[in-house]
Amino acid sequence: MLKGKKVVLAYSGGLDTSVCLKWLEQRGATPYALYLDLGQGEPADDVRNKALDIGADDAFVRDAKTEFAEEYVAPAIKANALYGGKYPLFTALGRPLIAKKLVEAAREVGATHIAHGSTGKGNDQVRFDVTSASIAPDLTVVAPVRDWNMSRPEEIEYAKENGIPVPVTRESPYSVDANLWGRSIEAGPLEDPDHEPTEDVFELTASPEEAPDEPRYVEIGFEGGLPTSLDGEELPLVELIAALNGIAGEHGVGRVDMIEDRLVGIKSREIYEAPAALTIVQAHKELETLTLTKDVLRFKSTVEQRYAELTYDGLWFTPLKTALDAFIEETQKAVTGAVRLKLYKGSSTIVGRTAPQALYNKDLATYDPNSTFDEASASGFIALWGLPARQWASVHGGAEQNQLPSQPELQG
Ligand code: ARG
Repeated sequence: MLKGKKVVLAYSGGLDTSVCLKWLEQRGATPYALYLDLGQGEPADDVRNKALDIGADDAFVRDAKTEFAEEYVAPAIKANALYGGKYPLFTALGRPLIAKKLVEAAREVGATHIAHGSTGKGNDQVRFDVTSASIAPDLTVVAPVRDWNMSRPEEIEYAKENGIPVPVTRESPYSVDANLWGRSIEAGPLEDPDHEPTEDVFELTASPEEAPDEPRYVEIGFEGGLPTSLDGEELPLVELIAALNGIAGEHGVGRVDMIEDRLVGIKSREIYEAPAALTIVQAHKELETLTLTKDVLRFKSTVEQRYAELTYDGLWFTPLKTALDAFIEETQKAVTGAVRLKLYKGSSTIVGRTAPQALYNKDLATYDPNSTFDEASASGFIALWGLPARQWASVHGGAEQNQLPSQPELQG
């Protein structure tokens, strides 16, 4: 079925995708490897050489950090996208970009197939397959690890038999995925949801106990809904995220421990580290409370939840995402200003916010007697606001008498 076919594989340099590469070659395919730098910090040249050694016909390395930040992370910031209110979706945002780049590479080499190393139990397979269906329905997607159901020990055995280098160091019990927006850690002892993660799990964040005794204040500046400066220094988004990962991580900020509902119906226990993502979304939300109206904030919060879900569910390249983006974009024009946070031993606390177009008006809000708010008009407003409640009570009796209409015999 794969004989003579050109297949472009999303290659990370790890065991799964190395096994996939060999597997494709042994099935008579002509495999190409594509490695994307999304800020995960692997040395790209080593990965490329490894792919060629294993048998890739060619291996491509692309630095996609800026594209990832500007086209995937940026809309997620504007949407305050947190799945389950906690997970900043870095893996879910990366997969559609990887799939898009696979399609581009497939077009370049004239491939009919693309491939990824996802298992059959996770969300990533859905994201790759659905993205590919959305943007290149003519291509066939191959997922060797899923379709031929290799276990980890079988993969290691297969790798050894086929001269694929397997790290000799005692293998980490964890499964890790990372890019510039965050890092996930799963498996091993973490599969017990009652097991507290040990410190060896974490790479981007200090433990709160080990974090500096002095708090660190940081100011994030926003323009049109996106962070553009850190402590007054203008930075491109990729660099701003990297810098904030360092600063907030050092203070133990950015750890998440959650039970997550996967798209395929499984509940999983996830540990995340996302110092920059969580502080940026926290600050962005805060600035919105200062610059957007009550109605827009309320409506946007339901949009945000849907946005996080569609991102999680692999529906990035769909009309719903495009339509929600248009709404969100419209709201972000006024979201310019700065938010100050205090980072201290694992906590991140908002301590200040300013905006040139702030809707906060001290003259209205103040309890000083010279407030411009017209208190006399409050009583008329309340009389009308409460009218439906008053009318209900006059027909059904007040809640105090506990006379509810579900018991008709009490009405007579
Ligand atoms: N649970 C997260 C998600 O579904 C992270 C998945 C990490 N992926 C991986 N292959 N390790 O987006």
